[in-house]
Amino acid sequence: MPNQGINARLHAFNSTDDCPAQTSIAYTESIYIYMSAVPQKTFYLETFGCQMNVHDSEKVIGTLVREGYRQVQTVEEAGLVLYNTCSIRDKAEQKVFNRLSDYKKYQKQGKKFAVLGCVAQQEGEKIFERAPYVSMVCGSASYKNLPQMLVQIEAGDQRVTGLDDRETEDCFETDFTSRTNPHRGYITIIEGCDKFCAYCVVPFTRGKERSRTSDSVLAEARQMADLGYTEIQLLGQNVNSYKDPAGKPGGKKTFAELLAAVGEVPGIKRVRFTTSHPRDFGRDIIDAIDAVPTLCDHIHLPVQCGSDRVLSAMQRLYTREQYLERIAWMKCAKRQISITSDIIVGFPGETDEDFTETLSLLDEVGYDAVFTFKYSPRPNTPSLGLDDAIPDQEKSRRLEILMSRQKDIQIARYKRYIGEILEVMVEGKNEARKQWIGRTSHNKTLNFTAPDRSIPQVGSYLKVRATQSFPNSLLGELVI
Ligand code: 5AD
Ligand code: SF4
Repeated sequence: MPNQGINARLHAFNSTDDCPAQTSIAYTESIYIYMSAVPQKTFYLETFGCQMNVHDSEKVIGTLVREGYRQVQTVEEAGLVLYNTCSIRDKAEQKVFNRLSDYKKYQKQGKKFAVLGCVAQQEGEKIFERAPYVSMVCGSASYKNLPQMLVQIEAGDQRVTGLDDRETEDCFETDFTSRTNPHRGYITIIEGCDKFCAYCVVPFTRGKERSRTSDSVLAEARQMADLGYTEIQLLGQNVNSYKDPAGKPGGKKTFAELLAAVGEVPGIKRVRFTTSHPRDFGRDIIDAIDAVPTLCDHIHLPVQCGSDRVLSAMQRLYTREQYLERIAWMKCAKRQISITSDIIVGFPGETDEDFTETLSLLDEVGYDAVFTFKYSPRPNTPSLGLDDAIPDQEKSRRLEILMSRQKDIQIARYKRYIGEILEVMVEGKNEARKQWIGRTSHNKTLNFTAPDRSIPQVGSYLKVRATQSFPNSLLGELVI
């Protein structure tokens, strides 16, 4: 293995589990000789964007380590600098180009640069013109080719590309995922998106929809449970359109069945999933949550807008009424489900009346949190051709009104928990405030105090009584 370094060899060893005691001495010696003979290849990776990107980066890091690279924490220390990029909105894309121009000076030191992810796929070889010191451009659908691409870079190739796999049937699966949190981890179940919402660049950057087999997802979930993970988050641009591509005869699972099966893996205490599309969201998901206590009582169901006219222009494929029907299912669940959403303001042609309908939808649903965005025109998307752009100032005005209305709703919703005892997973400690940080199954932050004699372990599950509420969090005390 000419290109492999110490981490990858250790990994290979661990993964095969075939290390008899007597060979390990010789092995250690050979590592020692190897280390002194070959300078280690190093990389620095920075991630922009959503959870899908964060998890892709975990898989990319694992792949690089297997190929003999060592991860470092600064650009200065690295031989190869990678950016895993996001282009969902204009601001995210600008950040990437700003970062690249900041680091131009390092090229003289022989560092190599690679752009991965959505900006890479969207801009393609144009990146080489704009930032000539970049030597690799690779979209997410091509990550499985990374090992060969790294060899090309090492051979001195100045323009390595991975841009032609958006029609692939394959998912990026690897045994070498490098997860940083030892308690909570992501599993991708579906990649790409076939929905083509009028404003959205994702179908163009992440390619067509393809699902992993439920067998492979469940094998990863069991492996994580064996390693001590207790919380799993299933990921996809639209998890509800999951289609099990294979499986034992009669063993294909729907998304709800897969969700339930992951929730039943011994050792797993919490399962979340994101993100959902209202058109594909079935009632069977609520039935699964009712039946399997480990499935968290939180659903993120992006609505984008409350007006049928705008929903139709956005090509969202559902009406306000159909969306509210799904909300009604959630409200009938056995446990109280916390509901969150994404909303875009200022889509071309959105009138004051349309916007008022979005505000009334907030009141009607009573969301626990809403992620709000100003419409940002994106390359290739159908909405790019629409007239009636809304001026930025007006978008900002609507955004502020929306956020202020939602804040009032959240204040009321968080108040309801005061006096309740909730289970939290301990995430860490805020030393300055002398408070522990916890997360509830509803996905709410519940900070808490504990007597000096008890030291909560990060990753443990504890009962906390909520005593105070804020618009975005709760405060409480440990129940002993
Ligand atoms: N402009 C603004 N917001 C967008 N989103 C996706 N594309 C755009 C865009 N062009 C938002 C949607 C989506 C979330 C992840 O990002 O609300 O649900
Ligand atoms: Fe984008 Fe719509 Fe696909 Fe979500 S469902 S990724 S908003 S195209």
